[in-house]
Amino acid sequence: MTKVKRYEDLRSHRWLGTTDLRSFGHRARFRQGGFDAPDWQGKPVIGIINTWSDLSFCHTHLRERAEDVKRGVWQAGGFPVELPALSLSEPFVKPTTMLYRNLLAMETEELLRSHPIDGAVLLGGCDKTTPGLILGAISMGVPSIFVPAGPQLNGNWRGQKMGSGSDAWKYWDEKRAGRITEEDWAELEGGIARSFGTCMVMGTAATMMAIAEALGLSLPGSSSIPAADAGHPRMCSNAGRRIVDMVWEDLTPDKILTPKSFDNAIRVHMAMGGSTNAIIHVVAMARRAGLKLDMNRFDELSREIPVLANVRPSGKYLMEDFFYAGGLRGLMNELRSTLDLDCLTVTGKTIGENIEGGKVYLPDVIHPLSDPISTEGATAVLTGNLAPRGCVIKPSAVEKRLLKHRGKVIAFEDYNHMAREVDRDDLDVTADHILVLKNGGPQGGPGMPEWGMLPIPKKLVQQGVRDMVRISDARMSGTSYGACILHVAPESYIGGPLAFVQTGDEIEIDVAARTIHLCVSDEELARRTAAWVKPEPRYVRGYGAIYSDHIGQADDGCDFDFLAPLGPVPEPEIH
Ligand code: FES
Repeated sequence: MTKVKRYEDLRSHRWLGTTDLRSFGHRARFRQGGFDAPDWQGKPVIGIINTWSDLSFCHTHLRERAEDVKRGVWQAGGFPVELPALSLSEPFVKPTTMLYRNLLAMETEELLRSHPIDGAVLLGGCDKTTPGLILGAISMGVPSIFVPAGPQLNGNWRGQKMGSGSDAWKYWDEKRAGRITEEDWAELEGGIARSFGTCMVMGTAATMMAIAEALGLSLPGSSSIPAADAGHPRMCSNAGRRIVDMVWEDLTPDKILTPKSFDNAIRVHMAMGGSTNAIIHVVAMARRAGLKLDMNRFDELSREIPVLANVRPSGKYLMEDFFYAGGLRGLMNELRSTLDLDCLTVTGKTIGENIEGGKVYLPDVIHPLSDPISTEGATAVLTGNLAPRGCVIKPSAVEKRLLKHRGKVIAFEDYNHMAREVDRDDLDVTADHILVLKNGGPQGGPGMPEWGMLPIPKKLVQQGVRDMVRISDARMSGTSYGACILHVAPESYIGGPLAFVQTGDEIEIDVAARTIHLCVSDEELARRTAAWVKPEPRYVRGYGAIYSDHIGQADDGCDFDFLAPLGPVPEPEIH
C-alpha cells in the first residue's frame, strides 16, 4: 500500500479529530454507542451502505454480510458504520424499481456526504441496487468497493433446473396452452427460488454485478460467488480489509472509471449475453463519471464480441453453474485478447493482473472465443423513423426468422388496453403480426417498467407460437427473451413517433442493417402528429412530480437532469 493520505486529511477528521464544541458532541455520541477513542482515533470511517430489507429476499443475507465487512474493516484498522438505504426489491416495488433507481443514487451520495465517511462499501445486487449505489458513489467520489449480493442457488422442479423469471415465463405459457396443470404450477412456485441471493439467470442483477467487477469496482471473482457459498462472507471481509487501504491510497472511483474500463465492461456484457437493461445503467454511470458514452458503443462492441456464457435466457445453464465453470475471472481470461488489461481496479492492481490465472473448467458453460454459443451479439441498436434516438434488441435471444421481418401492427395504447385485448379469441393475429405497446417509457410507464416482453396472444400460444416481434418504449426483464424491441426513444408519452402507430400499419425491421421503419408516409405521420394531444403529467406532487420534471430518456441513461452534470458539491459545513 502506498499511503498518500494522513489522518488529518480524512473527511471524518473534521467531525472527530478537532477540539471544538461540535467534535466534542460527535465523540460523546460515539461513546454513547459504547465506543472509545481507540476505536476511531487515527482510523478511516468506512460507511457500509446496506440495501437489506425484510421485503428484499435477494438481500436477506446482507445484514450478516455487513458484519463480515465490519470484521475486515476492524482487522485493517478502520472504523465501520452501517447505513441502511432503499432496498429496491425487484418483485415487490411498484410500479417498478426503475422509478426509484435515481432516488437510491441520491440517497447513497447524500448518506456518504452528510456523514463522517472516508470510504464506502456498497452492498447490493438486486437489479437497480447495483447502478443506484454506484451512481451515488461515483458522484460522491470517496473510495468505494461494490460488494455483490451474489446469485441464489439453481432453481429445481422435479429434478430440472429452474431459472428465475425465464422459466416462470416459459411455464406460464405452457399453462396457458394447457400443457401443465394447476398443481404442477403450484409446485413450481416452491422450487424456482430456493435461497437468498439475486436471480440466478443472466438477468439484470447478474449482468450488473459482472459489469461492476469488469469496471474494476469489485474484488476479482466476487460477482460470480453464489450468495449461499461460504466464499461469499469471506469475500465480504476481504472487501472490508481492502477498503481501509483504499482510503489511505486515495483510490477514488474517478481513477478507476475511464473510457477503457467502460469498454471492458461492455465487452464483458456482450460475452455474458447480458440484460438489455444494462445499457441504460452503464450509459448513466459513464456520464456521471464525466465520460461520453452512448448506446452506439454497445452496438459497435457487440459486433466484435460474441456470447460466450451459456446461461439462460440466451443459453442453457444458470449462474451457480457459471461459478463452478470458473466464473467471471474465467470468462474474462477467455476475452483477454480483446480487453484493455491496464485498467486500474479497487485492488490497486490492473484488471489484467486480477484475471491472471482465471480458468474455465466447464467449457460448455463458458465457451472459448473460438467456439462461441452465439455470434449474433447480445445487443443491437436500431434506428429509423420509428426510433430516431434508437431502440435495442437482444439478437441472441430471438428466433432467427424474426431478425429481418415486415409485419402488420396491432397497437395497444397502454398496458391495460393490451391486457384486455391480447387473449381475446377473436383477436385477428398471426405469428407474423407485430405487437406494439405505447406508454411504457420513463414518463409514460411511469418508470419504464419491464413490460417489453409483451405476452404472445393466447390463440397463438395454443398453436405453438413462442416468439413474435414486439415493440415498446418499455424495458424488458433481463430474464426475458424473444424478438422484443425495447427502449424506443423518444417515448410515446412525450410525443415520440411510437405514439402515432396505428393498428393496421406495417413496420419493417432489419437487425443486420440496424434499421426499424414505420411504413407510413411522411405526410400521414405529420397529420397524426398534428392531431396528437399531449397527456397530463402522471404526478402533480411528491417524488413522482420531481421524477416527471427531471427524468431523461432511455438513450441518455434515464438520469435526472440535475444529477448528471459534473461539478463540485460543497462539503457540509460543521458549525
Ligand atoms: Fe432481485 Fe431478480 S428479484 S435480482
